[in-house]
Amino acid sequence: MGLIVKEVRGFTHADAGSLYIRDENELRFEVAQNDTIDNRLGVRKDHFRPFALHLTSESIAGHVAITGEILNIKDVYQLKGKEDFFHFKDFDLRNNYRTQSMLVVPMLDHRSDIIGVLQLINALDENNQVISFSGEVEDLVLSLSSQAAVAIRNTQLLDSIKNIFKALVQYSVTAIDARSPHTAGHSERVAALSLLLASAINRQTKGPFAQFSFAEEELEELSYAAWLHDIGKIGVPEHILDKSARLTDDQIELVKTRFDLARARILFNFQKRLLEERLSNDEKSAAEYARDKELTQLEEGLSLVLRINNADSISDECLNALRGIAEIEFLNFTGERQPLFTDFELKNLGVARGNLTEEEYKKIQSHVSYTLNILNRIPFTPELNRVPLFAAAHHEMLNGTGYPQGLKAKDIPLQARIMSTADVYDALVASDRPYKRALPVKEALDILLEEAQNERLDKDVVNLFIEEKVWDDDSLKEELDF
Ligand SMILES: [Fe+2]
Ligand SMILES: [Fe+2]
Repeated sequence: MGLIVKEVRGFTHADAGSLYIRDENELRFEVAQNDTIDNRLGVRKDHFRPFALHLTSESIAGHVAITGEILNIKDVYQLKGKEDFFHFKDFDLRNNYRTQSMLVVPMLDHRSDIIGVLQLINALDENNQVISFSGEVEDLVLSLSSQAAVAIRNTQLLDSIKNIFKALVQYSVTAIDARSPHTAGHSERVAALSLLLASAINRQTKGPFAQFSFAEEELEELSYAAWLHDIGKIGVPEHILDKSARLTDDQIELVKTRFDLARARILFNFQKRLLEERLSNDEKSAAEYARDKELTQLEEGLSLVLRINNADSISDECLNALRGIAEIEFLNFTGERQPLFTDFELKNLGVARGNLTEEEYKKIQSHVSYTLNILNRIPFTPELNRVPLFAAAHHEMLNGTGYPQGLKAKDIPLQARIMSTADVYDALVASDRPYKRALPVKEALDILLEEAQNERLDKDVVNLFIEEKVWDDDSLKEELDF
């Protein structure tokens, strides 16, 4: 906008010029240039700060902004008094300046809507004397200012498209994360941490990141990648995301019912034998002994199941005991023999670590492929075209043990390393993950270091995360309302 004013002032020989943008009921004073005052001060005055005025037709600029009329005034102090606008003298008084001639034109966009006003002040002749603006330049100024208006309007439209896209991304990701209490707010936190890490990298003047610097567009690209990194979780069933025990409460109830039935069957069989057979005392004692043994076995079996169901990990011994119980059969309601567990239950209860079966774990891992598929369909602009690449690499590990591609260090971009550090940290300290309890910061940082030592995470990124206290940043707390 400054350039527009400068160019138009150039060919109209105007000593000063201003540019206003019309915004609903406001007129925003965006540019003010004045050679006489600058020369007097001996410096270029760059301290002008844009401000907004209430839009009324009383001021000259306001009048043009509302009516779209071109005003070419010989001397603003000689207005006849019939006009419905005034020249406000405060500026002249404050700056010891004399505004005289003025050419004020509306800036019309492609739909002929007035988007702003260009105000040229004091046309100068070759002796630097103030003269009127020639009527011949009016059309040229109008057409130039309107070309500028179209450019400004395009920028405004671009900004609003960007804002719509950003809001759409943030709202949908927030909604997807909120599907499960275990992921709620995760992407937003990973994006905030990733940006803080990137700005920490930008601040480095020595060390491994001295040569690295993310440009503004690259920060935006990283932010989108981080916001969208887990969007593929939309393809993972909620019961897997939410899984907090090996079997759900309902599934456990079913197992309990089967144990109850087995118990009732043992007691029934014992009574039946007593009624139907004439047992000697010894035989009766033996039957009682057998009955109690079976009942104890069931009781111990059920309590083992209940214990295992919420365990972080189980020993081989436990697993063998579980298999032993699984072999017990009982007669169900229809008189058929049936095992105490289904294959599904045994598989879930028998998971060695965590609570996810191999298939469920694979389903969770598949979120990265979904992320890539979804993001590949979004026609990102050139500045954002690596978003899918970065987002899809957030579970890759430097030593090649990550997924989905098992990329090696040299193929994992810095942006993805930043995101994986932020991702692991948030997963550790978030209190709402189903399979891990929330860790204190110190322990989480120790795990990051361990991951770096094992060449899973990038050690330079992890060190910076710890040294620069990215996790403790005030702006992060503020932003996320900790
Ligand atoms: Fe992920
Ligand atoms: Fe994540």
